[in-house]
Amino acid sequence: MKILESIPKISLGCYPTPFYKMKNLSKKTGLNLFIKREDLSGLGLGGNKIRKLEYLLADAKQKKCDVIITTGAAQSNHAMLTAAACRVLNLEPILVLKERGVTSLKGNLLLSKILDSEVHFVDTDDNEIVNAKIDLIMKQLEFRGKKPYFIPTGGSVPLGVLGYVSAVFEMFNQAEHDDVRIDHIVCATGSGGIQAGLIAGVELLDKSVKVTGINISSNKELPKIVANLSNGAFGLLSSDKNITKEEIIVRNYVGEGYAIPSKEGTEAIKLVARSEGIMLDHVYTGKAFAGLLSLSEQGYFEKDENILFIHTGGVPALFAIDAKF
Ligand SMILES: Cc1ncc(COP(=O)(O)O)c(C=O)c1O
Repeated sequence: MKILESIPKISLGCYPTPFYKMKNLSKKTGLNLFIKREDLSGLGLGGNKIRKLEYLLADAKQKKCDVIITTGAAQSNHAMLTAAACRVLNLEPILVLKERGVTSLKGNLLLSKILDSEVHFVDTDDNEIVNAKIDLIMKQLEFRGKKPYFIPTGGSVPLGVLGYVSAVFEMFNQAEHDDVRIDHIVCATGSGGIQAGLIAGVELLDKSVKVTGINISSNKELPKIVANLSNGAFGLLSSDKNITKEEIIVRNYVGEGYAIPSKEGTEAIKLVARSEGIMLDHVYTGKAFAGLLSLSEQGYFEKDENILFIHTGGVPALFAIDAKF
């Protein structure tokens, strides 16, 4: 197997991120709850996209690209972090964002503006229209002599997924150092990249660790998407491992819709803040933690299991909503 270290990567974040037991929450819930603070990964305001960007932007640099174009929701954490990473590497960020009625300069949009990103809004949910817009922008850039590099939603392509393969190696080192056994990993899953990387990493280490993705979108195809991404990562690492969509564990906790705060998510945000002083967000991590609690109530976790919750970031979006707490 080709080792991960041989694949070009540019350092953008501050790693390792903290890993520790959430003592108060463990006491309150009766669970053994650990956390990996990917929200403290250093660039922008932190988050899970930075590890993916370390591989994707290394590829862009190697291909001598000078403009990075990416896409996402109006309050996309990925888009904002891509812009921040571009500034470190002297690349120009262009963000094509799905408007969905969200244009006010708050949260990630404000940060993207501070980063002087070129923002194009598209008032549609139709990916074909979004892709056509991106194609047009890329052609115009090429006409002007620029060399654009496109990063799909969430950086969720096999190369980006490697970021979370390397995160798995990091977290298992930390757990070993602290003499902690990780039994179960729980994270928010959206475009599938983080879950795919976690699963691939765990498989490559031959660990019998369950990875549960809490789906915060209405995408019913996630198990298939995640399996394809994990297999793509195995391919890049010349590993003959393979995973089927039936082996991917996804539980749906989107509530009324993507980015619409749920009552359970809001309660989870308050519980984690008031127990551990850790901030979650209403789009990803609040719903993911609410999902973890709900699964626990249904007897989903084994007795004495050590559960590792991945804090994937996302807090900037909290400052873009009129939430009732
Ligand atoms: C804060 C946060 N958590 C979790 C995710 C989900 O990660 P992925 O898209 O790799 O599934 C995202 C993706 O945008 C995110 O911004």
